[in-house]
Amino acid sequence: MDALESEETPVAPAEPAEPPPLVAAPAVDAPESKEPPAAPVEPLQLLGQPAVDALERSESPAATVEPVPPPVATVLRFDLHQRLQHGLLASSFVLLVVTGWPLAAHSAKASASAAIVALFGGIERCSGIHRIAAIVMVIASLYHLAYLAVLASRRGLSASMLPSPGDLRNLGQNLLFFVGKRGERPKFPRFSYFEKFDYWAVFWGVAIMVGSGLVRWFPVEATGIFPPWVYEIAHYAHADEALLAALAIFIWHFYNVHLRPGVFPMSRVFLTGRLTLEQLQEEHGAEYEELMRARAQAEAKAKEGG
Ligand code: HEM
Repeated sequence: MDALESEETPVAPAEPAEPPPLVAAPAVDAPESKEPPAAPVEPLQLLGQPAVDALERSESPAATVEPVPPPVATVLRFDLHQRLQHGLLASSFVLLVVTGWPLAAHSAKASASAAIVALFGGIERCSGIHRIAAIVMVIASLYHLAYLAVLASRRGLSASMLPSPGDLRNLGQNLLFFVGKRGERPKFPRFSYFEKFDYWAVFWGVAIMVGSGLVRWFPVEATGIFPPWVYEIAHYAHADEALLAALAIFIWHFYNVHLRPGVFPMSRVFLTGRLTLEQLQEEHGAEYEELMRARAQAEAKAKEGG
């Protein structure tokens, strides 16, 4: 789940833990330093004289020292808190899909189901783990709602995740690009239409899965509250939405995030939370241009002042 982020887009070099937030003067070229340049130090000097002697004695032509690449400027898109929420939701989802598979009656005898049942040590265990993962998913979802409420109360919620008319325009431009009628991909803003879709689809998906799952979990209580056909519907809704959600995540989401050209085989943003400026320009061209404009303005202002 992509989380709504606050208005600030911190930009920093890859190495330091948390960069200062970007407000008016983006520190895009953070690798630059005001310190006077230090005298060059040979890497082997850091290891001491024995290492230098050992290298001099070596006759192997392969004993060369690799140059250290310069630090790369990056943009924070997913802070640690958001990455943990995403990790909790993603891991509970995968567990629910895997343990739900053999619970679906139509596939109970299939070989994939048999392998999953054997892996978890029996169908009862699958059912039990399914319920534990369901509790984790409910906690992750409620936590995210509370997180949004806290951000809203601090006025830290950005509108950049809300659907907008620009998304429809980008969708049209992207389709034209896919069929070869447009030379380049559209310049996406901070969140593209497919990222927004991924985020908002989780809300109704979780609502249906949790609602129908609770009815299946507590059938006596549920039929005491609702008419009996609700239990029937919950059965089909749970199984069908499970299939839809699994296909949406493993095909649509995985393709857009990990498997598309330029990113394949895997994006690391869900782990590091960061995009390089080059990736930002490629994947969120409109946001990149906005960032560069803000940076140029900040630099011009700084020159005027000093
Ligand atoms: C996206 C997440 C989920 C997926 C992919 C999923 C998948 C499945 C599947 C495929 C089945 C078997 C089909 C059926 O019998 O209807 C199932 C059964 C079940 N699910 Fe889920 N489920 C998810 C979330 C949940 C949640 C959130 C709950 C509870 C709050 C839940 C509770 C149950 C229960 C109680 C059963 C019946 C278990 C049994 O027969 O032992 N599921 N689930």
